[in-house]
Amino acid sequence: MGEYIKPNSIIHGDSREILRQIAPDSVACSIWSPPYHVGKEYEAGMSYEDWLGLLQTVVSLHTPIIYIFWKPGITVVDRDRLTKEEWVNWGSRAVWSFPSVRANDDHEAKFPLELPRRIIRLLTTPEDVVLDCFVGSGTTAVAAILEGRQYIGIDIEEKYVEMSRKACRRTLESMNGEQQLQLF
Ligand SMILES: C[S@@+](CC[C@H](N)C(=O)[O-])C[C@H]1O[C@@H](n2cnc3c(N)ncnc32)[C@H](O)[C@@H]1O
Repeated sequence: MGEYIKPNSIIHGDSREILRQIAPDSVACSIWSPPYHVGKEYEAGMSYEDWLGLLQTVVSLHTPIIYIFWKPGITVVDRDRLTKEEWVNWGSRAVWSFPSVRANDDHEAKFPLELPRRIIRLLTTPEDVVLDCFVGSGTTAVAAILEGRQYIGIDIEEKYVEMSRKACRRTLESMNGEQQLQLF
């Protein structure tokens, strides 16, 4: 086995292979929406059996065992990570509601940025590593950057890898720009 994947990278490849190259126990939180087997362009040629196999393998490569992406006993829901207002408005609630992504013009199936941002804020601490095995347009990686966490994203389609890397660069640039403005 070569070196492990360094955090803050978007990797081109199949999650079933790439996940084996992530350092054990280095990921605090794994947030992803996989292919849904509903006829999207990136699912072309994938049979139902292939799809089931993909999900089974990816889930099995998450250790320790994770149900609903939750690590019992390790993950702490700490209300002090949120402001009082955030805790009241969504942190303490079992159901979250926010608008879906209307403009899926660059990627067919993005989830709203607010979804990974909330999960990251609630379940991880700054500098933790957040993983997305199906990173698509880069939503989870961008959320991680905005929340001061590290990220690893994986996608099998080169165009989405490029898209994610660009989204990360844009986010970092705009954050650096804001910091510089605050100096004056
Ligand atoms: C539902 S989309 C994820 C969208 C993402 N959550 C976002 O907000 O942009 C699923 C992604 O999984 C990628 N994908 C499909 N099979 C894959 C595999 N075996 N390994 C890695 N990525 C894969 C597709 O290219 C697609 O971008």
